[in-house]
Amino acid sequence: MPALFQPLKIGQIELENRIVIAPMCQYSAKDGNASDWHMIHLGHLALSGAALLIVEATAVLEEGRITPTDLGLYSDANEAALARVLAVVRANSPIRIGMQLGHAGRKASSRAPWDGGQQIPADDADGWLAVAPSALPHSPGEEPPVALDAAGLARVRDGFASAARRAARLGIEALEIHAAHGYLLHQFLSPLSNQRTDEYGGSLENRMRFPLEVFDAVRAAFPAERPVWARLSATDWVEGGWDLDSSVAFAQALKTRGSAAIHVSTGGVSPLQKIPLGAGYQVPYAARIKAEVGLPTIAVGLITEPEQAETIVATGAADAVALARAVLYDPRWPWHAAATLGAKVRAPKQYWRSQPREFKDLFEGASVGQR
Ligand SMILES: Cc1cc2nc3c(=O)[nH]c(=O)nc-3n(C[C@H](O)[C@H](O)[C@H](O)COP(=O)(O)O)c2cc1C
Repeated sequence: MPALFQPLKIGQIELENRIVIAPMCQYSAKDGNASDWHMIHLGHLALSGAALLIVEATAVLEEGRITPTDLGLYSDANEAALARVLAVVRANSPIRIGMQLGHAGRKASSRAPWDGGQQIPADDADGWLAVAPSALPHSPGEEPPVALDAAGLARVRDGFASAARRAARLGIEALEIHAAHGYLLHQFLSPLSNQRTDEYGGSLENRMRFPLEVFDAVRAAFPAERPVWARLSATDWVEGGWDLDSSVAFAQALKTRGSAAIHVSTGGVSPLQKIPLGAGYQVPYAARIKAEVGLPTIAVGLITEPEQAETIVATGAADAVALARAVLYDPRWPWHAAATLGAKVRAPKQYWRSQPREFKDLFEGASVGQR
């Protein structure tokens, strides 16, 4: 059996293969409430044959949304809206469902990408004042955020814990804490965005303190038998920024606190980043973190080909691969990967008749009878 289609245990949950659908913001919620779009979007991805579907970055506080239309889990209405969507998805697919919990920090109050993605000024009807570790804007010329004080830090920590409790009630099977892509927790980690002089800034230990406190709060609020892990950016791609050595230290600290896995991305904290984009360009970062920390490791970033994904898992560079754009482009990517690699994959019984003649054993348990 190809390595990509072997099961993987993350904490106490078993994934039936190594294909993960990466969290993808849809900017299609109203007041944080999941919409019919989420039902269609998550519903169709749930039929993909991937083992784990991670729901998009979900804001733990209203202020922590990237855009006014981000998904949230900070109110009873948010919880009810997601419950409706998840009930339909669950009734029609056995895919494991995880969720990414996030707070945008200084990247909050932005337009959706299709509206240009720019900062919305705080005095605009759609905008609000962002918070961050330090009063440093993401880009020069932008309105600076307000530096979080002790009460603000407590509010954010409590927001993460409260969202984790809501996620638990929703039956979410795994939580991923968003500490990547230049959002709030990454802003604490990176010396480019964190210039605090208190115990949350300065040394690596101090910069890791708040993200680790958030991890502890989420871990404590979520049922012990369900895994929690973090997604990090393993480098800022900027001289003097957050780097791979720091990422290894952070992953190690997370492991000590009970993180069940680590999801390795890069970048996002600075417009000065210079990213050498190419196939699997972040995989070496995942490989080093996996080798040194030993947690189940998810690699992501321009993983588009079945053979490429197979090599990443078979060589032990990572334990699982996450796909974002490739699976939006081809939501049956896992089916096609199974066909290419000679594996079996789960497909809904309603679609069993689509199994191509040349792949007679593609769909698990498929049988088609007629009078
Ligand atoms: C539409 C879209 C939305 C995304 N939203 C998120 C998100 O909510 N959280 C996150 O950590 N990354 C997000 N990303 C980044 C992806 O999870 C992934 O890391 C990145 O796209 C690289 O993987 P890919 O080459 O397979 O697309 C998003 C990417 C896309 C294309």
